[in-house]
Amino acid sequence: MPSYNDAKALRDVEKRLELLPPLVFAGEARALEKRLAQAVAGKSFVLQGGDCAESFVHYSADQIRDLLKVMLEMAVILTFSAACPVIKIGRVAGQFAKPRSSPTESHDGQELPSYRGDCINDITPTLEARQADPERMIQAYHQSSGTLNLLRAFTQGGFADLHKVHSWTHKFVHDSSAHIAYRALAERIAESLAFMEACGVTSNSVAQVRETDFYTSHEALLLHYEEALTRKDSLTGSFYNCSAHMLWLGERTRAPEGAHAKFLRGVENPLGIKCGPSATAERILPLIDMLNPKNRPGRISLIVRMGVNEIAEAFPKLLQQIEKEGRKVLWICDPMHGNTMRAKNGYKTRNFKTIMREIEIFFAIHRAEKTWPGGIHLEMTGDSVTECLGGARSLEEANLQDRYHTHCDPRLNAEQALEVGFLVANLLANHQKNVGNKRAAN
Ligand code: PEP
Ligand code: CO
Repeated sequence: MPSYNDAKALRDVEKRLELLPPLVFAGEARALEKRLAQAVAGKSFVLQGGDCAESFVHYSADQIRDLLKVMLEMAVILTFSAACPVIKIGRVAGQFAKPRSSPTESHDGQELPSYRGDCINDITPTLEARQADPERMIQAYHQSSGTLNLLRAFTQGGFADLHKVHSWTHKFVHDSSAHIAYRALAERIAESLAFMEACGVTSNSVAQVRETDFYTSHEALLLHYEEALTRKDSLTGSFYNCSAHMLWLGERTRAPEGAHAKFLRGVENPLGIKCGPSATAERILPLIDMLNPKNRPGRISLIVRMGVNEIAEAFPKLLQQIEKEGRKVLWICDPMHGNTMRAKNGYKTRNFKTIMREIEIFFAIHRAEKTWPGGIHLEMTGDSVTECLGGARSLEEANLQDRYHTHCDPRLNAEQALEVGFLVANLLANHQKNVGNKRAAN
């Protein structure tokens, strides 16, 4: 949590936020929990993705549309190839606050307060810009509201109609192998739709063809903001954090006795818990029980981010014990946060191969345990950024400087994300073949 110099200004902002309309409705958070419960039962799969940190400067309709496009593309790849419904959750419309390992960072020999995300301070490396400013929470709220409005318009207003499957592609990926594969798949979907249409299933007759659900999520880090947007639901009398549908506890904020966990205990939204290599069952079980005493499926997702070097050793133990103790959780793979490194030229980056490898190990462990690999959590964008190494275009360290725009961690670009989509679709289809399809069994 940042410290603010002016307590009165902070209180004033909190009061204003308390009066602003909620961004999401409690009923939507409940609907998401129901869908996540289906995923816990092995009947669907979560695709969670978006920026590491949203920013005030990279805010445009195109950027929101392009993230949505790539997530829609990935979702149809998964749905079609693995015949599995996909729950789409953005790291978007509120993902502004960043946990940092160190309170200060050095710039040209000067020690400055760390950048903590646009809702807290400014990334410009000056002492003044790095002061925490409560007004930034108001700006983050309004940006989130604009983002969510556009996402709702796109997903409910015709843009996400399955007949538009060809038009979700991005201008800059036309010649990539993933895009060629996508076009072929889009052809097959179009054929299936034509057949269904002849049978009477059209955009007009079936809402699922015409529109889609898209949920929002972020790390519940800045409690001043999260608390001010927490409201009592008039239908049930329960409290919901109405700044997003799903909130998560980060690797650094998941201590059961910490303020973040205690805050989330009091709201009914679906919750994520990031699990790094130190997340043993002894540590995670008490947290699960505190947050979900009734063991409601869909309430808790464990987002495993152990890193390619640790996952094979640490994850099976966690998985076995949580499953043995009968806790109903959804297992989601975050192959990003355990695999961050510094390139020789100083850029923070991640290697595409390493990311893919961690996903493969995650699936292999679930296959061995006969459990359901319930989802994937990615830092990604619809833009053609050059932040992660490798992928079909074999991005190298020298290319990182070309379009390195992230305010925090390196993201997959649209092309790399699409490649991950095909890989996961394959793994998921194989998992269903080998371990059996729980959907069929039920
Ligand atoms: C993140 O998701 O951006 C993040 C900081 O993750 P973690 O808490 O897993 O490090
Ligand atoms: Co990150």
